[in-house]
Amino acid sequence: MSKPEKFFDENGLRLDGRRVDEIRPMKIEVGVLSRADGSCYLEWGNNKVLAGVFGPRELHPRRMQRPDTAIVRYRYNMAAFSVEDRIRPGPNRRSTEISKVSREAFEPVILTHLYPSAVIDVFTEVLQADAGTRTAAINAATIALADAGIPMKGLVSACAVGKVDGKLVLDLGKDEDNYGDADLPVAMTQDGDVTLIQMDGNLTQDEFKEAMELVKVGCKQILDIQREALKSKFDQFDTEEIEEETVVEAPKSEVEIDETVEVETEVVVTEEEEVVETEEEEVVDTEEEEVVDTEEVEEEVTADDENDEEPDKNTDDEDVEEGETNE
Ligand code: CDP
Repeated sequence: MSKPEKFFDENGLRLDGRRVDEIRPMKIEVGVLSRADGSCYLEWGNNKVLAGVFGPRELHPRRMQRPDTAIVRYRYNMAAFSVEDRIRPGPNRRSTEISKVSREAFEPVILTHLYPSAVIDVFTEVLQADAGTRTAAINAATIALADAGIPMKGLVSACAVGKVDGKLVLDLGKDEDNYGDADLPVAMTQDGDVTLIQMDGNLTQDEFKEAMELVKVGCKQILDIQREALKSKFDQFDTEEIEEETVVEAPKSEVEIDETVEVETEVVVTEEEEVVETEEEEVVDTEEEEVVDTEEVEEEVTADDENDEEPDKNTDDEDVEEGETNE
């Protein structure tokens, strides 16, 4: 690919039609890997990144453990097929450096002291690269950490800012990254504290200040997308939970009740002729959504001296201790 003749059109728009303060479209999917404790798939322009988090779990070998805190390991890796020229598999100088600075970007936010002697592993895999992969990986990693339930002070959002043809631009594209004058990847907490900053190229002090203001705007936009992705995942989770609870709460024998069910199977009289009452709660028939009124059931109680079996005994709860209520 050769250097483009110009980076801006007559309207001041960039090669891909964006304004100088506009980020590329970002799409986030939460919880895409079933083997990981937390995961995320993120697309940002033509970047495609996968992140998986494992832990906190006991660190082996034990000599590497820290008795007062968990350690965080972070791996940034580019798939061999992620760029035009095949990348040799395995770590290299660039990926080792990116892994280190990215791990440090999370250090101020992860509450590692809650998990002494443990390790939290963060893996990020760049499946398709198109400039800004370290920031894309950080954005995916923070979502995977949240998905894994790792306690954090807040989310981390990352974006690059740079200079192209003397103009500051947000979220550099591939040509802008390759042929621009400066590239400044930045990560920050949701409170605006910078946790990663690197710079390639040159900026004046004023440009630097302006660039930091611009990148703050970018990180804020990304934070909103990240929050939205997490919210939609956990909103959906909440609804599923409620639906499940509705089914679980119904006593097993009553879940299948319909109008044809014999009442004797529900309520019996013990040897001492004591009526054992069914629970007074209303029970929802999950198929028909009809309410079975337990008072009606009581009316049809028949004494059965020979049947001294306890009513509603849920065999699944055999190991419930005496006196413990069966919820
Ligand atoms: O990806 P990021 O901007 O964080 O890092 P970079 O080192 O500035 O790389 C910029 C881009 O160059 C990457 O996103 C890839 O598209 C490309 N690249 C490549 O084609 N081959 C490499 N070995 C490394 C990077």
